Amino acid sequence: MTHRIAFPDSFLWGAATAAYQIEGAFDADGKGESVWDRFCATPGTILDGSTGEVACDHYHRWEQDLDLMQALGLTAYRFSMAWTRVLPTGSGRVNLAGLDFYDRLVDGLLQRGIRPFVTLNHWDTPQALHDAGGWPARRTAEAFVEYTDVVSQRLGDRVKDWITHNEPWCVAFLGHYLGIHAPGVRDLASAARSVHHLLLSHGWAVPVLRRNSPGARVGITLNPAEVVAASPSQADLWATNLEDGIRNRLFLDPLYHRGYPVDVIEHMMEREQVAFDYVEAGDMDAIAVSTDFLGVNYYSRTIARADNTVDNLPPVITAEENEHTEMGWEVYAPGLYNLLCRLHFDYRPASMIITENGASYSDAPDAVGRVADARRTSYIRDYLAEARRAMDAGVPLDGYFVWSFLDNFEWSFGYQQRFGIVWVDYETQQRLPKDSALWYRDVIANNGFDTA
Ligand code: FCB
Repeated sequence: MTHRIAFPDSFLWGAATAAYQIEGAFDADGKGESVWDRFCATPGTILDGSTGEVACDHYHRWEQDLDLMQALGLTAYRFSMAWTRVLPTGSGRVNLAGLDFYDRLVDGLLQRGIRPFVTLNHWDTPQALHDAGGWPARRTAEAFVEYTDVVSQRLGDRVKDWITHNEPWCVAFLGHYLGIHAPGVRDLASAARSVHHLLLSHGWAVPVLRRNSPGARVGITLNPAEVVAASPSQADLWATNLEDGIRNRLFLDPLYHRGYPVDVIEHMMEREQVAFDYVEAGDMDAIAVSTDFLGVNYYSRTIARADNTVDNLPPVITAEENEHTEMGWEVYAPGLYNLLCRLHFDYRPASMIITENGASYSDAPDAVGRVADARRTSYIRDYLAEARRAMDAGVPLDGYFVWSFLDNFEWSFGYQQRFGIVWVDYETQQRLPKDSALWYRDVIANNGFDTA
């Protein structure tokens, strides 16, 4: 029997991208170097040896990309700005050509009836700031506020939805502890300091955005996890609590006025001699500034197990019996329901937006140019149904952004992972909406869908 899943009229239907993953034009019109430019130029960092130098060439093809968004009926588009286009060395001199690009993009979206959601920092920190200490240093938080001010003075009259950071956990732990993302640092103390300065810069940036962009809605995007224990053993429950601490509570507790979680801090202090001496008076109040929404990026659940603890992070395993995407991520839609309910009942964000959700499958065009990516469609459909179920349970969810609008440069995986609802031929830069995009277009047009 079919069952109708309907969404409120005001529900936002979007797609998301990030500057480094799609723009290309890595040194055009005065753009400065970011840590991702440097990281990709370092041999052995990216699985297929590729870089974001050209990516989807969106910097030059943005008008055609916006036309396609309009044809699909998107009501919102989440993109990030490259900090180094605007401030090539992170602070100081403003590069007007970079600002002009985003100005045109915002106007182009508004002309097409698409609401721009701007992420200020999706990982591409200016290399010059990293060289001067990077996120482990307080100075970078100050530079982020300067950047926020410049951008929101220029765009704040038209952009009314702002996201300060994307997934600070990744910047801190993948970038500064495991070293598998830019800037490739491997040091827990640097990761802990980065957490603090990322959060602090968010707290400082929010009032600047409110001042320069009257009536705007402001938030931060995290990648919180639904963490479950591999078994009910004491050891696995310990690992689960630690993983929840590092992935979730280390960020959510300070943002929602609870301070840093003591157990996580103690773990870091004992294991790695991290001293938390860089937290200054007033910082925790600044971080806990009130926001309008919490952005949630969610793909898969996390199953924690205590054995083989790697680098003091609990190892994460997966339920082999379930389907996995080509990233190796388990397809587990009920995890989204569980996570949204937990966030709502535990932290009570004013509202939530799913700022990323999607799947990597490499289905390619057939002889007649059709991309039959049925697995992506069913992934999105099942996760959307769980999002709707969470709304029925009282979760204030305002919108959904599929990751991603285009196939793009998937960080350390290079171009081997395709998350787009639109196929990109990297040789010709041709775009081709996949079946999932056409299905999503109908979902948007009908504000819902029927389950099979
Ligand atoms: C998220 C990132 C996004 C993309 C997806 C697959 O962690 O925010 O840029 O890489 O994963």
